[in-house]
Amino acid sequence: MEKNGFYSMRTSALRKLKTTMSKIETKNLDLFYGSFHALLDINLEVEEKMITALIGPSGCGKSTLLRALNRMNDLIEGVRITGEVCVDGKNIYEHGTDLIGLRKKVGMVFQRPNPFPLSIFDNIAYGPRIHGIKNRGELEGIVQKALSDVMLWDVLKDKLDRFALNLSIEQQQRLCIARLSAITPEIVLMDEPCSALDPMATQRIEELMFELKKNYTIVIVTHNMQQAARVSDKTGFMLLGKLVEYGDTKQVFTTPHEKQTEEYITGRYG
Ligand SMILES: Nc1ncnc2c1ncn2[C@@H]1O[C@H](COP(=O)(O)OP(=O)(O)O)[C@@H](O)[C@H]1O
Ligand SMILES: [Mg+2]
Repeated sequence: MEKNGFYSMRTSALRKLKTTMSKIETKNLDLFYGSFHALLDINLEVEEKMITALIGPSGCGKSTLLRALNRMNDLIEGVRITGEVCVDGKNIYEHGTDLIGLRKKVGMVFQRPNPFPLSIFDNIAYGPRIHGIKNRGELEGIVQKALSDVMLWDVLKDKLDRFALNLSIEQQQRLCIARLSAITPEIVLMDEPCSALDPMATQRIEELMFELKKNYTIVIVTHNMQQAARVSDKTGFMLLGKLVEYGDTKQVFTTPHEKQTEEYITGRYG
């Protein structure tokens, strides 16, 4: 009896494992800039609606890996990629992938906020307009929702025609996140999104990330280990183009399996 119970529990656990597909999965991913081998055999599984942090010293390949997840590296000359990056089980490097659709689904936030030199309203309406939405009322609804998502609506609702580049850096970064949210991505890639912000603004963006993960799968690159430890569910540690260790954030920071991870988190190298 008990034995049967045990087995059926085990089977259902296995079945559950099989049916929860990773949101993103890289398989034997290698990337070369010309002859320079920048990513070596990366196998990473990103879970849906969680925050995954990529940490490691400068130059280890964090940004390169992040860009590989929505084919931003395609824009760099001399890049060669082998292996797969599957989003919802489909390899995005397959011939004939719809790149516009991919970048709508997998959006990116950069180190320096990069609003367009347009009004606040037009920044957010930009994406929806490209995707064919022309109705003013509909656009207004989208702008309100997107600004509310990043807690900017109450502050900016009477200033929507102001020039976006006059906002504070923090508000510009929030606006960039709102601009993404307006095109309803499923995955948000963030490359050191707080590096231009002061500690208070950083804390507020981290709080925002907690809100965002209800709706989005987030992958964040950060050289700030405390930030990774605070905000993420999963952490990957990279060194010289390799994913040295990947696991639950708590485990990686408290009981790392790899010596190199331990050396890094205890500050042995920068
Ligand atoms: N466009 C490029 N062309 C050639 N080499 C590059 C390019 N971008 C990055 N690299 C190299 O690839 C390695 C990883 O860079 P990067 O992904 O930017 O690291 P990180 O984000 O961890 O600081 C570094 O050695 C860097 O010099
Ligand atoms: Mg980088």
